[in-house]
Amino acid sequence: MDVRDAVASRYSCRAFLPTPVPLPTVRDILDRAARAPSGGNLQPWRVDALAGPRLEALKSLIRPRHGALPHGEGAEYAAYPSPLNEPYRTRRFAVGAALHHAVGIARMDRPARLAQFARNFELFGAPVGLFVSVDRSLGPPQWADLGAFIQTVMLLARAYGLHTCPQEAWTLWHRTVSEFLKLPETHMLFCAIALGHADEAAPVNSWRSEREPLDGFASFSGFEDLPP
Ligand SMILES: Cc1cc2nc3c(=O)[nH]c(=O)nc-3n(C[C@H](O)[C@H](O)[C@H](O)COP(=O)(O)O)c2cc1C
Repeated sequence: MDVRDAVASRYSCRAFLPTPVPLPTVRDILDRAARAPSGGNLQPWRVDALAGPRLEALKSLIRPRHGALPHGEGAEYAAYPSPLNEPYRTRRFAVGAALHHAVGIARMDRPARLAQFARNFELFGAPVGLFVSVDRSLGPPQWADLGAFIQTVMLLARAYGLHTCPQEAWTLWHRTVSEFLKLPETHMLFCAIALGHADEAAPVNSWRSEREPLDGFASFSGFEDLPP
């Protein structure tokens, strides 16, 4: 698959088929993703991959508790600054509205919105969960490296016909996840990546998020003086 097709066809998939993903595929994706660049070649990523009964065991620790605790154990890091200024606030609102519209959830229907949010902790039905953590001693540049790694994982998944959803929502259950994975105290859970085969027929997968036009975020100068 051409890298342009991988980029264009990736989206945050929020309904997966139960079809398993074999271990060699998961290993190959992660092995290749480690070619992602990182400042000073620190390679600050740690990944714990779960499938089958182990993944089910983790989900069943959270499932009975999430209804009463929609904020879980409390996020370990702020996913967004507060307040979230423009234009970011509007973009965040728009993507939430588009998601809820796709699944027929009315704006004021808080219980339905919470139920949709809780699907995060089922990994949207994905057969594999990649739990990505980072050494606490590292800072914003290494978290940026983590982003490059995560996107590389997601693009490599496309080469296998697989889809993904990065999920920072899992920080709400960071204690349970860290204990379950026996993460060293030195490490903080950043996110999970749901990995599997998309349920293409699911309404939640039927829409695509918007992007600002190129000239809204990039400027170009000097090119007009170059020889053709
Ligand atoms: C680091 C990161 C964390 C995210 N966390 C969640 C999440 O917890 N739940 C979710 O449904 N989507 C999550 N997303 C998906 C974003 O909402 C999505 O990337 C954005 O709206 C753009 O849509 P697209 O990925 O379909 O292009 C996350 C994305 C990133 C990059």
